[in-house]
Formats: sequence, C-alpha cells, structure tokens
Amino acid sequence: MSAPLSLTINGKQYEVGEVSPNTHLLTFLHDNQLLGTHKTCYKGACGACTVVATLTDPDTLEKKTMTINSCLVPVLACVGWELTTIEGLGNKYDGYHVIQERLTQHSGTQCGYCSPGMVMNMYGLSQSKAEWTKEDVEQQLDGTVCRCTGYRPILDAFKSLTPQDIEDVHKTRCPTTGKACSGCCSNKPKGEGKKACGKSAGSPLKLKDSTWHQPSSLQELLDTLAGLPEGTKYTLVCGNTAQAVYEGGPYTEYIYTGNVPELSAVKLETEALVFGANVSITRLMEQLFLAAQTLGGFAYVSHLAETWKHLGNTSLRNLGSWGGNIATKVNHPDFTSDIFVGLVTAGATITTVSPDGSSDTHTLEELMEVDLVGQRRVILQVSLPPLPDDVFVRTIKVRPRTSTALADVSAGFKVRVDAATAHTVVDAPVIVYNGINSSFIRATATEAALAGKSLEDEMVLQAALSALATEVVPAIKPGETSPEYRLSLTQTLLYKMVLGVLGDSASTASKLSLRILKPGQWGKPVTKVEAPIQCSGEAEYVTKIPARPGELYGVFVTSTQANARLVSIDTTDALAIPGVVGFVGAEDIRGQNNMLAFAADWVPGSSQPVFASERVEYNGQPLGLLVATNRSAAYAGLEAVKVTYDDIQAPVITIDEALTKPLPPSQFPPVVIGDVAAGFAASTHVIEGAMRRGGQLHYQLETQITIVNPTDDGFEVHSATQWASETQRAIAQVLGVPDNQVHVSVKRLGGGFGGKIDQCNIVSTAAAVAAQKMRRPVRVQLDLSDNMRIVGGREPYLCTYKVGFDDAGKLQAVQAVLTADSGYKGVDVSSSSAVAAMPSCYACSNWELTPQFILTNTPVTTWCRTPGTVEGICFMENIMDHVAAELGLDPLELRQRNLLPDGGSRRLGKEIIQLRSRMAGCNVKDLPDEVTIPRNLISNMITQLLASADVEKRKAEVAQFNKDNLWKKRGLTVMPMLWPHSVPPVYPFSVLVAVNARDGSVSISHGGSEMGQGLNTKVAQVAAYELGIPMDTISFVPTSTHTNPNSSSTSGSLGSDTCSYCVGEACKILRARLDTYKQVAGLLDASWKEVVLSAFNAGVDISQRYVNGANETQGYAVFGVACSEVELDVLTGQFMILRTDILEDAGRSLSPLVDIGQIEGGFVMGQGLLTLEKIVFDAATGKNLSDSVWTYHTPMALDIPVDIRVTLLEDAPNPVGVQSSKVTSEPPVCLAYSAVMALRQAVTSARQDAGTTGWFQMDAPLTYESLQQLCLVDVSRLTLA
Ligand SMILES: Cc1cc2nc3c(=O)[nH]c(=O)nc-3n(C[C@H](O)[C@H](O)[C@H](O)COP(=O)(O)OP(=O)(O)OC[C@H]3O[C@@H](n4cnc5c(N)ncnc54)[C@H](O)[C@@H]3O)c2cc1C
Ligand code: FES
Ligand code: FES
Repeated sequence: MSAPLSLTINGKQYEVGEVSPNTHLLTFLHDNQLLGTHKTCYKGACGACTVVATLTDPDTLEKKTMTINSCLVPVLACVGWELTTIEGLGNKYDGYHVIQERLTQHSGTQCGYCSPGMVMNMYGLSQSKAEWTKEDVEQQLDGTVCRCTGYRPILDAFKSLTPQDIEDVHKTRCPTTGKACSGCCSNKPKGEGKKACGKSAGSPLKLKDSTWHQPSSLQELLDTLAGLPEGTKYTLVCGNTAQAVYEGGPYTEYIYTGNVPELSAVKLETEALVFGANVSITRLMEQLFLAAQTLGGFAYVSHLAETWKHLGNTSLRNLGSWGGNIATKVNHPDFTSDIFVGLVTAGATITTVSPDGSSDTHTLEELMEVDLVGQRRVILQVSLPPLPDDVFVRTIKVRPRTSTALADVSAGFKVRVDAATAHTVVDAPVIVYNGINSSFIRATATEAALAGKSLEDEMVLQAALSALATEVVPAIKPGETSPEYRLSLTQTLLYKMVLGVLGDSASTASKLSLRILKPGQWGKPVTKVEAPIQCSGEAEYVTKIPARPGELYGVFVTSTQANARLVSIDTTDALAIPGVVGFVGAEDIRGQNNMLAFAADWVPGSSQPVFASERVEYNGQPLGLLVATNRSAAYAGLEAVKVTYDDIQAPVITIDEALTKPLPPSQFPPVVIGDVAAGFAASTHVIEGAMRRGGQLHYQLETQITIVNPTDDGFEVHSATQWASETQRAIAQVLGVPDNQVHVSVKRLGGGFGGKIDQCNIVSTAAAVAAQKMRRPVRVQLDLSDNMRIVGGREPYLCTYKVGFDDAGKLQAVQAVLTADSGYKGVDVSSSSAVAAMPSCYACSNWELTPQFILTNTPVTTWCRTPGTVEGICFMENIMDHVAAELGLDPLELRQRNLLPDGGSRRLGKEIIQLRSRMAGCNVKDLPDEVTIPRNLISNMITQLLASADVEKRKAEVAQFNKDNLWKKRGLTVMPMLWPHSVPPVYPFSVLVAVNARDGSVSISHGGSEMGQGLNTKVAQVAAYELGIPMDTISFVPTSTHTNPNSSSTSGSLGSDTCSYCVGEACKILRARLDTYKQVAGLLDASWKEVVLSAFNAGVDISQRYVNGANETQGYAVFGVACSEVELDVLTGQFMILRTDILEDAGRSLSPLVDIGQIEGGFVMGQGLLTLEKIVFDAATGKNLSDSVWTYHTPMALDIPVDIRVTLLEDAPNPVGVQSSKVTSEPPVCLAYSAVMALRQAVTSARQDAGTTGWFQMDAPLTYESLQQLCLVDVSRLTLA
C-alpha cells in the first residue's frame, strides 16, 4: 500500500485525504482551519490568497521557493510541497514577523483584507532571492489588489526591508526549507516536520468521479494517454491556471504533469535554447535573460522576456507554464497569448509527442492546426533559434492596465535591415499580431510590402500601413476595446517599430518613461490599532466565521433577461442534485418583499424587492436563493435551474437612451441662487456643453456576505454591513418579525466604500428568508463576479451645462442639469448632493443647478466613496477647463480669478445634509440655505502648493517637452477644491465605554463599522486622550444592534468623526465621575487601575453610554489642492502619472498616518473611476459585460502615480471638528480629477500637432482607447517627415 499523500504547511505535515481534483489549495487550507489566507476572485487576479511554496524541480532536483495563488492550484498537485501560509509567519502570541511589523508601521493596511496576501508576497520575494531591488518589490506586487490604501504605503513598507532585516528575524536556517527561518516551524508537534513528504508519483488515484494520474516520466505520461478509452474526457494539468481564463471540465481523467522531468528540462546551447513544456513562465524569463547575456545569437530573447513581465502577474508566472499557455492558445484560438506572439516572432519550433511515442516538430502556425486533445498529443518542448545580432526583434503589449490584464493587441516584429542601404529590409520580415480575431496571426501582406524595401522610404511605410488596413479585420469583442482602436494599434505599433529600427534618424519614437516609484512622505506615525492582526491574518471578518453545524450555503438564481415578464422558475432538476436542500423565492417571504428599511424616506415610494416576482428589471436580478450543504453543490444546482420569461423587451442601459423615453426624469428641487437669466445677459461669453461619466463597480476584497442563524429568540446575524440598524430593520421587515428578534453584529469589513450601506441587504435579507424557511443557519457570500453583476455600483452621470462669463473669465451664471442613472429603481440617488457640491471653491452670483435621475434596466446604483460630491466637483472642473479653453487662459489662472473670497458664504450642502439624514434613518427640514465659511484656506493653499511642487519651473519643462516630442506628451495642472462636509443635525451613534474593574482595561463598542478608514484608531486615540490612559489598554467589541441600537450608517466620512465625538463625550462624563470619586476617596495620586477598582468597589458605575443629540456636531469645508503631471503615449493612449502633489486640510489631524493613507487611497480610487474602470452593458440582453477580472480593471500597484507626495496643511485647527480635526476619507477622491486635467493638457498638445485647436470634451473614464482617439491619431499622420 502506498504512503498517504501529504504536503507540509508551516512545517507541519497534512494528509491530503479524499479530495476532488477541483479542490484547490485554498479550500484545503480553509478546511484545515488555516483561515488567514483570504479569498476574493478565485481567478489568480487579486493576490488575496497568496502563499509561498517550496518545491523540487523534477529536472534539476533543485528546490525553488516562490509565491503562488492558492485559489488556482489543485491540492493534489501540491503533494510533497512545502508551503508557508500567513500563519507560518508571526502572530500575536509569538510575536510578529518583520514584514508584518513593517507593513503595520507604514500604515500599509486599511481594511486589512489584502494584507496577508501582501505580506506573503514580500515573504515570497525574500525567500526566492538573496538580494532584491526596489523594482523587484514593485514587480512582486503586480498581482495583488488593494482597494483601500492606494498601494504607496505598502510599497514603501516593503522597499524599506533589506535581506539583513529578514535574516535577523531568526539567525538560524530552516531545516525544512534551507532558507532563513521564518519561525513557521515553531508550533509544529515534535518531529512532524522531518517526515518525508515526497510525491507518491506514478500511482493513479481513483477518486469519486474521476482519476488523478501522476506520471513521473514522459513514458508513463504517454502510456497513461494511450491507455485511456476512446472518447475519454481528460485534461493535462500543469499549473492549472488556465482554468481561470477558460473554464473546462468536469473531466474523468486528470493527468498531472508536474512530476515529469522531461517536461521541465532546460538546455541553453548555442544552436538553440530548449525549454520543456512545464517550465514556468518565470523560469523561462530568467533563463532567457541569462542566455541573452551569456550566449551569442540570443541577445534578442531579452526583448521577449521584457514584454512577458506584463504577462499576468508574478504568482501566475511562477505557477503557469509556457506550454500550458500555448496549449490554451491552440485550444482557444481567440486567447490573446503573449507567449504565442513572442514565440512566433522568434521563429521558435514546438515538438509534440503522440501517445505512441512518435514526435513532430511544428512552427507555431502549424501547431495551431493540430488537434492536441483529439490526438492526445503532448507538447514536449520549444526550441528558440539563434539570430544574428543585427536582427531587430521587438514585442509590444498594449493592455488596459499595467499588470494582470490580457492584451488588447500585442505585436511582434522581426526585421533585418541593412543600415548602409537606407535601412533596406534584407530578409523576409515577420509581423505578428494578437487580439485581432481568432485566426489572425501574421500580417503577411504587410510583410510583403516591407520585404526588400527601404524603411526610410515614406512610400514604403505608407504601403505597409495600407496593407495592414486591408488585411487586419478585428473581431467585435463585446465589453472590450473597439475594432477601430485595435486596427489603429496594429498601425501605430508598426510605426513604432519602424521608428525604433531607424533609431536616431527618427527622434519621435514614443515609449513611456521608465517607472520606478518614489517613496511617500509621512506624518506623525500612530499605527492603526488592528494593523498587526490584519497583517498576520488573525483579524476576523464575517467571511472567516466558521460554519455552524448544519449550515447551508446559498447562491442566487438570477435573471438572464433585463426587461421581461418572469413566467416560471423550475428547480426540479436542481433539487435532485446531491447536497441541494431547497429553494426560496418571493413566495416564501412572510413579511414585505422589500429589502430597504429607510430608503423610502429619501425617494418617495422607493422599495427594492428581495426577489423579483413578476417582471425582471435587470440582467442579474435575484429571482430566488438555492441552498445546499456546500458551495459546490449549490453551484451545481444552479446550472440545473430553468427560468422562463415572456414579453421580453429591449433594455434601456444608458442615460442618453433613457432621456429619449416618454417617462420624464425624476427631479429634485433645483438649487437656485441669484438670477441666471440676468447673469447670462451680463455675460460677454456664453458656452454650453455636456460631460458624461461612467459608473464604478464595487470591488470590495471581502465581497457581500451575511450569515443568518435562527435561534430560540429570533435570528443571529453576522453581516458585513456599514449600517447594522438598517440591516436589522430590513431583515425584520422581510421576515415579518419585530426588530428585537433580529440581532445584527459586525466586527469589521473587508472594504465597504458605500456598497454595504443598504445594498448589503441583497444578501442579508435573502439569507434570512432561507434561514427562516429551512430553520438552519444560512450563509450567502457573493462571488466577485456576482458582486459586480448583481449589486450596483456608483451611478453613471450626465451633466449638461450652460455658463456665462466675462472677458476676464469671471463667472456670471452657471446653469446645469445633473442626471444620475439610478439603475432600475431610484433608491440611493446622489444628484442633489452633486449639485450642492458643484460650486466647490468658486464664486458666482447666479446658479441654477437641477438634480435629476433616470431609470435604466441595470442594477440599483448605490453609494460609492464620495457619492455626488465627486460628480459635482469634477463637473465644475470640466466647466472651468471649458471656460479657460474658450478664452485661451491658463487653467489655474482662470480658477484663481474665480475663487470664493475669504469670509464668503455659500451653500454648504443643504441637500447633502438632507440626503445624509436618510442614512441616520431620520428626516430633517428647515435647514439654512447658506453657511458662512469661517476660514477660507484655498488661496493660501494654492500658493503653498505652487512653491512646494515647484509648479512654475515644471510647467515650463512640460511646455518644452511637448515642443520636442510629437508622440509623447505631458501635462501638468493644479486643481483646488472645497469639499462640503455636511453634517445632519441628527446623526446618532450609540456608544458604550466599559471599564473592566480588575485591570482597568477598556472595551469600547460604537455603532460604526470599521472597514479600513481607521475608525477604531481614531476612537481609541480620543478615548486614550480623554481618559488619560495608554492606547493599548483599549480594545473594541463588535458593533451590535443590541449594544449600539439605532445607530446611523458609517458613511460620508461621518462614522469616524461622530463615533470619535460620542466616545470622547462618554469618556469625559466617565472621567468627571471618576475625578469626583478620586476627590471624595482621597485617591488623587492613585493610578488609573487603582481608581477604577476602588470606584467599582464603592458602587460607582465605571461604564458610560453616550448618544449624540441634535446639532452636537457641525459641518465644515475641507480644502485641498492637487497638482498632477502625466505622460501620454499618443500612439497607444497609454499614460502614467509621473507625479502628484496633494496638500490637504485635515484640520489638526487626529491621526496623520491614517489620514495620509486615506488621502492616497482616495486619490487612487478616483483615478480608477476617472481613467481605468469602465462598465459596459450588452445592448441586447442588458448583461454586465464588465463583471469579471478580465474586463474590469481597478488600479494595480504599478498604475499609481510614480511619485505621490501628500502633505497635511499645518496649523489649521478646525474650530468645529472633533478635537479640531477634519475628515479625510472622501475629499481626495475628487482630487484625482487633477490627473484628468493634466491629461487634457497633454491631449491638447497632441491635437495641436494634428492641426486642431479649441475645446473638446473628455468624458470619463478616460481609457487608453478614448485618449488615443482624442489625440486624433490618424494613419495619415504616421509619417517619417
Ligand atoms: C490571472 C491570470 C492572468 C493571466 N494573464 C495572462 C496574460 O497577460 N497573457 C497571457 O498570455 N496569458 C495570461 N494568462 C494565462 C496563463 O499564462 C496560462 O493560464 C498559463 O500559462 C497556463 O499554464 P499552466 O501550466 O497553468 O497550464 P494548465 O492550466 O495546467 O493547462 C492549460 C491547458 O494546457 C494543456 N496542457 C498543459 N500542458 C500541456 C502539454 N505539455 N501538452 C499539451 N497540453 C498541455 C492542459 O490540458 C490545459 O488544457 C493569465 C492567467 C491568469 C490566471
Ligand atoms: S482569490 Fe486567489 S488570486 Fe484572487
Ligand atoms: S487594505 Fe488593501 S484592500 Fe483594504
């Protein structure tokens, strides 16, 4: 009998046991209670699940250590591996690892959900390399998403680490890994780590529905294939990463190839470089860089490897093989494989072997014709030929963001020219494109147009570009870039190649400057209270609450139509699937089919069904919940549910479409100040325009989740909610039970951003209905793509405007209509808040701003960090740019001429206050129209930033740069901002400060939700200050609807401020009581501990509640100024932000480190909104085509500004703020518009070169495609002149 299969985790051996080939390592870790490794995307695209693996190369028998995504690799493939998870580093009992400490110290964690993955990435880097550079650190984080921090503090934290720091943790070397000991083995039972954990290769494992083969030689692999009966559904498994791109299976035979030495062989020889099919992309690249340096004839291969740095991300490249990549391309010809482009360009050949042992050699083009699966052929190896040094080989990848993105178009060029004969192409050139359509590989007509011709000849270039226009026929790719853009890219990339070959003779070649991120700047370091446990994976989230006995898993049955009548839902087949327990739909709801508790107060009559019952309103709408004993059974059941519809109508998916419908938009009262008609009459210039801005999806790393457990007195609810009271009321309303039977508690959220204020009730009410019907605990957690498809995000917007101004650019009248797309119901509509914020820091006597919303067949859109205010402020900046362009004025000068004067008064958000009142579940009336701004800081702040960012000098440099460059452009602009922090008169939070008598430690429970914004830290700071005790004596108890009843939502930057205020007030009362007691008891010199124990023994209450009453906290203006400088590649539209300087007024900051983190994170979220994150709905079905990691692109670590400098305004105490502070989490999102303004300048310069001047509209998001189009890149301009 063979030894049980095992793997080693943190030095302890684990038996794999009976698992399916589809059980990923991540699931295995969680099943074994190793919960510190997080999960989000299950696609290798977020890095939350990163662990470090040490495994033996079957060819060299050398051990290699690397990061991998545990959500991709099957646990059966990990047999014999040594793994380190976050639990293997430090923890609160044994002390933290230096990497965890460093991340904590640099405030590199906010919600903390990405933190274990970040730490493991750095740990993996430190274990895989003896030395590393700052660039290595940046590259290592190319696959880890952080939605909160903006990455800078994480990068700074890790860049501060040296090999010495890691070595110093434990001076000894680990007997298991041979690397510097991380301490991971310290907890293992004696002797366990030394057990052999080698592979039990060779013996197939008969599993329940399939067989897992694990051949240990090529012959065994071929024999296995030969032995499979005709028609067997089999797959080869190497890294198993391609499943994330193209789901396949289920299969009956899984053949794991990772133990086959022949497939891992590497030969670097002068005749050829040969790599076995299993060689990972990382190793392939390392070896290519080595060969380029050491072997004649292979200098060119470094260019291939350089481009592959943009293939997926580091962990993906560590696990994924080049062979698996090429096989995926053969099996799915539409796959935009970067490996394929490189290998075709190089003229590589592939050897395949058939089960009878015969082998064939193919070019890559020939290989595309081979039926690998049908013929059961195995890719054995690739062979790269040497090329003369004068052959020009380049590959280029244009992608929607820097990393973890498939190519829009990639190109490969191999050209040999004779420089002495006017760069005549001497051999047959090779021109390869990927991303065009599923059959396009080589641009043969273009190759023919260049062969034997001079590249210096304009006619030749034009002939080649024309040939491309004829032979390149891009396919329509729904949700991706347009065929026109991709055709244009083939031409501009060819043009780049020609310029590159001609070298100095054409000085306009465009390539973005090298990006090496600069370190950030820091304020006074007070680290977040929960940062250490977040960095160690010990922090608890709802996701990590272990399943209770009998717990069920619910998945939504959702609509596949967007505007139709629901006829029937047939679950018969689904319920027959083992593990599926039941289904709940609208008919199972005992109370109201309305998941909103307080929304009706805001938009009259609004409600949102838990499950659709008659008509379906959007594609993705929940129709019911299928519950099963586990997640995979639930998903299997989902496949078998049949839904029928009739009266299927075309969906309305855009604002423009909705405005053409007979139903008028719903309007809120306009903001009217002065008389716009008079203003226009007094104006010497009147302009009109419109700006569109798309929405933004919620991409919380912890997706929407709720667990509902029926108890003897109601329902215990654990929900990732930003508003426990709303969730409590909504569940009670849906179940038809009193509120006191619903007990909601929330400890922390893995990201909220407004998406969990009320839309979290989509999952919480559905789970509750199922729990009530099944009488069992039910858990519902949305997969990331469902999170994007079912739950709405930020509203798309249209702003139409008319502006009057005088010759000096002074505003006379501003009239605008702001239309929000609220999805299929008007629930969380922010347009009245947008108009209230719109004036920003500008003065004008006459305003007429009308907020309205329209309905579309899309999910209900909802709050998203800075709702409304970011729209109002950005639209106003667009108007200011328009005015400046009209008058030919410098944009900053125009702004300065219109600044609100000191001591001026303006509306400070009456409408925002009304809207926010809803978030407290209250309605307020009779608010003043205008509020005087006590201290207008904006002019001084502009002056300060102009000096600190050296703006005048840099502006001159940018102008010179733009003169010198045709295809690269820069822009540098300054944006001022007034952000109205509008506080409703009633916005209660109920807090409890409880002192433990025996040791004086303090437990605080506030009504807010800690979700990364530093709420607990700020509260702890205030409490420590007011009670006069150290911060480490304070801890937090989860928010609960029992301890903190009727609390408001944690949103709009109100949560931290108000909870801090309430806790401060509670502490003041407590302190006063204890001070009185000290006097009476004669304990004036006693310690805190002595006082509280004595007071307790004397019958004094040493706990204190507090709820803020009406008008206890006030609103104020937050000022900010940002200067961004960008560089744009005109030919592709790709750009980077070279530098951003932000000066923000945080009052007297409560916690500078937290505030700077909030500002950077906010800016990067705004950058995503305005540039990268594009949502596309299918016009026919209303399906969200951007609901996957392949089509929706949040900023990654390498997208952020290369240099970001945040400074908090000094000496600016806020007279009405909590301890003189101001809020910081929302305003900086708006400042990201400074990058848009800078891009406008760059694009303006490109358009001037194209002969076009004057105003042009830039809608957002400004994707690379739209930027390239705005630059008027026309093929007729691609000349050598
Ligand atoms: C997050 C992410 C980002 C990505 N980004 C990019 C990108 O930017 N550019 C890009 O080009 N690719 C990208 N990919 C694809 C990635 O490169 C491939 O998934 C990977 O290279 C496949 O290798 P693997 O070892 O995991 O193959 P597996 O997933 O194990 O296998 C893939 C397929 O190849 C077959 N196969 C495996 N070995 C052989 C063999 N020896 N002979 C015949 N058939 C075989 C398998 O049967 C299977 O059908 C990305 C993937 C992910 C998950
Ligand atoms: S969960 Fe594994 S990479 Fe996202
Ligand atoms: S701290 Fe990175 S996702 Fe929240």
